[in-house]
Amino acid sequence: MASPFTHLPVLLDECLALLTPQPGDTVVDGTVGGGGHAAEILERTAPDGRLVGLDLDPQAIAAAGRRLSDFGDRVQLVRGSFRGLRGILDELGIEAVDGILLDLGVSSPQLDDPARGFRFAEETAEETSLDMRMGPEVGDTAAVLLQEASIEELTRWFREYADLPGAHRLARAIVATRERAALETSADLLAVIREAGVGRGRRHNPATLVFQAIRIAVNDELGALREGLEAAIECLRPGGRLAVIAYHSAEDRIVKHTLRDAVRGCVCPPRTPVCICGGQVRLRLLTRRPVRAGEDEIRRNPRARSARLRAAQRVANAA
Ligand SMILES: C[S@@+](CC[C@H](N)C(=O)[O-])C[C@H]1O[C@@H](n2cnc3c(N)ncnc32)[C@H](O)[C@@H]1O
Repeated sequence: MASPFTHLPVLLDECLALLTPQPGDTVVDGTVGGGGHAAEILERTAPDGRLVGLDLDPQAIAAAGRRLSDFGDRVQLVRGSFRGLRGILDELGIEAVDGILLDLGVSSPQLDDPARGFRFAEETAEETSLDMRMGPEVGDTAAVLLQEASIEELTRWFREYADLPGAHRLARAIVATRERAALETSADLLAVIREAGVGRGRRHNPATLVFQAIRIAVNDELGALREGLEAAIECLRPGGRLAVIAYHSAEDRIVKHTLRDAVRGCVCPPRTPVCICGGQVRLRLLTRRPVRAGEDEIRRNPRARSARLRAAQRVANAA
């Protein structure tokens, strides 16, 4: 029997305080997961508010369907990426929404299921294939990427997505190993990481960082985030609110810079005499600094430790 989908929503009260869902609102949960945030949003938008919940993962959509079944036709669940939010809302006949939540990354059930290959567990590493896709439409598995990526690409992933000391050394070791035999299981990858001796002295186990970097590359998480944020800003009605929870610094940087550019409007280089970019002010910031979880929440849910929540409000387009 499949294990129940249990994922504690992170920074729940803080998200609700920033999104301020009201009765009758239409809200998008772009990463619905197990429906934890979504259920609370639906409580506050009762009796007739709507929630559109997206997720790439069919198991998450099934779990959210079970969790949110009491809300009936106020909920529409769609399997797809938030990077395609505009098209998804067009298909549902929704022009603009009152709130959008993106709670990025992977859920606890995804991480904990060894068959998904997101995390290494020494005991099951031999049988865990290097998959790491959030959903079937994502494209190539981790095993395929590790077979095909160049040394330069691998190095960039380990540096940019995980800040891994020895990134280039590990990339070279992967390429040398795969010339003898393809890396197919978590155990194969763990053996290369160990032999390359990378990331010593870091707070995190180097294997955790390497698995994180490969997961981000497999799912093009940063590309999806850039496109998803732009789509989200465009889909908000004036006054609508966007809240985003990031779990690592590369993600948070993209959120911070995208929101900041939309707040500034013009993104011309400094000292450009006249604006040539045509950028318009589209957002007002609701959080000057990222909101972090308190000690109590971190004790109950260690995943919350790295969470950083930022939010902004859509302003009307200039005439
Ligand atoms: C941290 S979990 C969300 C948990 C959810 N807030 C809850 O309370 O249960 C992140 C979810 O986002 C999904 N996801 C990641 N990238 C996505 C994308 N580009 N589009 C849609 N869903 C995505 C993952 O499959 C995962 O289920």
